[in-house]
Amino acid sequence: MPSHAPDRNLALELVRVTEAAALAAARWVGRGDKNAADQAAVDAMRLMLSTVEMDGIVVIGEGEKDEAPMLYNGERLGTGHPPQVDIAVDPIDGTRLTAQGRPGALSVVAVSERGTMFDPKHLVYMRKIAVGPEARDVIDITDTVENNLKRIAKALGKDVSEVTVMVLDRPRHQDLIEDIRRAGTRIRLIMDGDVAGAITAAMPDTGIDVLMGIGGSPEAVVAAAALKCLDGGLQCMLWPRNEEEKRLAQERGLDLNQVLTIEDLIRSDNVFFALTGITTGELVDGVKYVGRGAITESLVMRSLSGTIRRIRALHRWDKLMRISQVPYTGS
Ligand code: FBP
Repeated sequence: MPSHAPDRNLALELVRVTEAAALAAARWVGRGDKNAADQAAVDAMRLMLSTVEMDGIVVIGEGEKDEAPMLYNGERLGTGHPPQVDIAVDPIDGTRLTAQGRPGALSVVAVSERGTMFDPKHLVYMRKIAVGPEARDVIDITDTVENNLKRIAKALGKDVSEVTVMVLDRPRHQDLIEDIRRAGTRIRLIMDGDVAGAITAAMPDTGIDVLMGIGGSPEAVVAAAALKCLDGGLQCMLWPRNEEEKRLAQERGLDLNQVLTIEDLIRSDNVFFALTGITTGELVDGVKYVGRGAITESLVMRSLSGTIRRIRALHRWDKLMRISQVPYTGS
């Protein structure tokens, strides 16, 4: 029997990071400026990450250094003391949702042991299928949509007509949507946010059973971190947009035929994950202002223990502004 003393749960520190980013982004909800929302979330996230006791490298960040002055891939974050970790950030999953005041925008951070996160390099899209624990052993991204849905329905003890698939509303998904409809399965189209989509599919009682379709590669790695904690199932394949990306993949040693599982995307059993709602969605409530403060709702997960915490926090501007450099108040 393992006799380790309980060690530190970094996720409980990471939730302060996603809370700060969500509070900063929430100022921009519905104001039509997605760059300002993103910048606010990035700045707050970076400031809070720098206080976490860890020696972190951003593997999944906002992009290359020149385009993203902060939280760029390769940036070192944390206090510089052990543990040595990889960091995946998505300061806002759903920048457009935030700017337009639509549901389902989140702030997300994941951390795992150093050298364990998959780097999709310049391949920005992946084909994905995500499910919860009951169906994780029956998905096969190389098989047809219909066969997958039949097996998933059986694993869930449902009829295929009772299964709901979440799909990003994109022209590239026309064939996928037709295949799902032909199988007689329900669809929930979302404008953005397939990190939230994958987690929603893997969590119990959300009403969503599967996420299918092509979305961002960084988002796949972030989702893998959460699904590892949730014991969910995720399979992905890199999806090059053109010949140039196919050539780049070959040049950089990326196998376009490889089925990437959660284990390939994060090769560690020690994963920490936190998300906080910016706008209300299926998973969590968004930021609510309560006069001189705000309430946030977050999910905090750790793969080793499998504990999932839902944290509602009341933040008080008067006290925070005395101790924090994050500009929590609007003015
Ligand atoms: P951002 O908020 O970072 O823009 O991402 C939103 C998102 O919907 C992701 O959840 C998804 O993986 C990706 O965009 C899909 O990409 P595209 O909008 O190019 O189809």
